[in-house]
Amino acid sequence: MTAVGIDAIEIWSGNLKLDLPETFASVKGEDPDKYRKGLGLEASSFPDVYEDIVTMGANASKRLMERKGLEPDDIGRIDVATESAFDHSKPVSTYIAGCLEQVFEDDFRHANKGERKFACVSGTQAVDDAYNWIRAGRNRDRAALVVATDTALYERGDPGEATQGAGAVAMLIDEDPDVLGLSDEQGFGSMDETDFLKPNQQFPSVDGKRSVQVYLSRMREALEDYESVAGRVYEEDFAYAPFHTPFPGMVRKAGLLAYRHITRNTDIEDQLAEEIGRQPREEEYDSHDEYEEAIREYMDALKGTERYRSWYADVIEPTLTISSQVGNWYTGSVHIARASALMTAADEDRNFEGESLLVASYGSGAQAEIHAETIQSGWKEEIEAIDIDQQLENRYDLTFEEYEQIHNVHDLDKDVEVDAFTQPEGEFAFTGWGRMNERKYEYVE
Ligand code: COA
Repeated sequence: MTAVGIDAIEIWSGNLKLDLPETFASVKGEDPDKYRKGLGLEASSFPDVYEDIVTMGANASKRLMERKGLEPDDIGRIDVATESAFDHSKPVSTYIAGCLEQVFEDDFRHANKGERKFACVSGTQAVDDAYNWIRAGRNRDRAALVVATDTALYERGDPGEATQGAGAVAMLIDEDPDVLGLSDEQGFGSMDETDFLKPNQQFPSVDGKRSVQVYLSRMREALEDYESVAGRVYEEDFAYAPFHTPFPGMVRKAGLLAYRHITRNTDIEDQLAEEIGRQPREEEYDSHDEYEEAIREYMDALKGTERYRSWYADVIEPTLTISSQVGNWYTGSVHIARASALMTAADEDRNFEGESLLVASYGSGAQAEIHAETIQSGWKEEIEAIDIDQQLENRYDLTFEEYEQIHNVHDLDKDVEVDAFTQPEGEFAFTGWGRMNERKYEYVE
């Protein structure tokens, strides 16, 4: 059966940067190592005055379409995944299509447009929808454009303020893709949870510590569900494992749990036993509390083993490069984790066509999804075309006062006049509101 999956990826970062260990921590009176070592974050990306989820998504999409030589007629579906929508009725995909129609000759009149919502997992769900649409044979030889775009801002003073970010990932989903083929098998872990939500409000209500626990629980269930259809997952099965990355420290916790799971009842567990003992089994303990304590001790010991550290350095660490420089991009987050891994592979001139990735997405509320992806022959050329390193280098570095101003600019309850810190060039820009309170955009040469 012909593969269906990701044919191209483009990434667009907000044009501003907040240095977390230096600028943010020092004003907050915090130790910079909370960011560098604890959360694993160097900086957050922010949108300038003229940027928002539409401009970032449209910029990534334009570049993707131009690079692939596509016209609007080649796209049969545009889905936007976002947690930052500003309109309860008109989907962000219509705004993005409107932007693109300013620069392409034709229009997207016959494309099916929509918007996907389930916190950060909705980017992956939109990819899923595109996959199913193509597999069902309803695409008329056209590809799907999936855009995950967010401005992840928290209320000033909320602990989540440490993990903000803004950017977009555009992905072309097609038959016989150049980059990655998606597995039919998927696993889900999904429960009604109250860890992070935005009930008719711009900034989230967050129970941060609980959201970390919910993330880990739903991920474990999704992995077990995936294994129930795809068979057991072993250490050597996957070249990289990109996880949803609200901040790299979260993935450090998830990686450790995943490693314990995939090595249980294997030769690796036996080899590690000489150093740190075998994994605790619940039936060996008198109470659940004693078992939990034993698990904690085992995990602490596992974290320090050479075997685990080397697996983490090879399979997980390369997925965190972009995230550590941009913060949380919500729906785009797992997709920049995947891109980071592939960019590392390209830098290392790795020849890994046919190898697999285990991709683990998560959205608060809460749902985790896990599936596998297979590297296709054209991956390297596509990945080398991504210029995110350059974009990150070119960001304007905000002072703390400037950060406060830009937070106010993007706070929908505030009406403030702030001059842009950068000038738009070769990109879409927000230009103000129209007669029905719609947002207006222009392409700036
Ligand atoms: N050196 C090294 N590590 C340090 C440190 C220092 N000086 N100071 C703190 N840390 C570590 C902490 O031990 C902690 O790591 P741990 O969780 O492994 O123990 C980490 O840095 C974060 O510190 P903490 O004090 O817990 O930060 P916080 O109270 O600001 O909360 C979040 C962190 C993630 C809960 C908060 O940023 C948040 O609510 N984020 C939004 C929700 C989110 O992203 N959830 C994730 C699931 S989607």
